[in-house]
Amino acid sequence: MASYALAGKKAVITGASGGIGFAIASRFAKEGASVVLAGRTRSKLQRSLAELQEMMGEPRGLELPQSHSIHCLDVGEMRAWGRLIKDNKEIDYLVNCAGEPQNSLLLRIDEETVDGLLASNLRGVIFGCKMVGRQMMARRRGGCIINISSLLAHKGVIGTSVYAAAKAGQLGLTTALSAELAKHGIRVNAVLPGYIETDMTDGLANKELQKKIPLGRFGTASEVADAVAFLAKNEYANNCILNLDGGLSAV
Ligand SMILES: NC(=O)c1ccc[n+]([C@@H]2O[C@H](COP(=O)([O-])OP(=O)(O)OC[C@H]3O[C@@H](n4cnc5c(N)ncnc54)[C@H](OP(=O)(O)O)[C@@H]3O)[C@@H](O)[C@H]2O)c1
Repeated sequence: MASYALAGKKAVITGASGGIGFAIASRFAKEGASVVLAGRTRSKLQRSLAELQEMMGEPRGLELPQSHSIHCLDVGEMRAWGRLIKDNKEIDYLVNCAGEPQNSLLLRIDEETVDGLLASNLRGVIFGCKMVGRQMMARRRGGCIINISSLLAHKGVIGTSVYAAAKAGQLGLTTALSAELAKHGIRVNAVLPGYIETDMTDGLANKELQKKIPLGRFGTASEVADAVAFLAKNEYANNCILNLDGGLSAV
């Protein structure tokens, strides 16, 4: 008989209408969790929910009661997180996956763009950890938060300065919170993907770049989802900062 490691659990995945977020949401659903797909654009979330429901097929019977839903929010707004935790009272897992890329030199970037990048890639993660972490603490049933950072937190790539600063900030946040929240049974971890095939990297996968990656290819969203599922399920994973980049961080 199949076993569902996350049966009876609720997971909120931000950026769930995007490539990696949707793969993570699908993986959590396949492992038995009820998933809240969160993101900015309602129509994209509705499409993703329909795809998820189709993929999961008919309800699998009473032994696995699952219900998936969407929640529209801009992660950079604290009040939006207040509404999310009001609507979703029993969150076991939060995956902070929403994020936006940068493609310009720092000298050419204006204040509004800097604010937007920091809001999506760092403030949103801080607010998510604070608001969902507070709910997890009050519930006294522990929990796990996984932040999707980036290889670029460590590796210098031209045109990514503010994004890289935000992703490096996520690592400091993860480490500090893994110490701060452990006594409440809440684990905090991060994944640092390298180049992954999604809309965000559309057009980047040329032979020259692929040759620089020791494994010779971009990763897939489902390979990132595997790493996230590992961190969610391994009860000793806390401040686990997991590189997933085909070895690019080593060269
Ligand atoms: N792809 C890669 O190679 C790679 C590598 C390293 C790290 N990452 C990180 O992995 C995460 C997912 O990337 P991806 O490739 O799956 O990107 P994607 O396909 O472009 O998806 C991005 C998702 O984030 C959501 N989002 C962006 N800003 C938001 C905000 N302020 N509030 C709420 N939702 C927001 C988007 O929703 P809307 O479209 O509705 O705004 C979308 O669902 C990002 O954090 C990214 O930085 C990606």
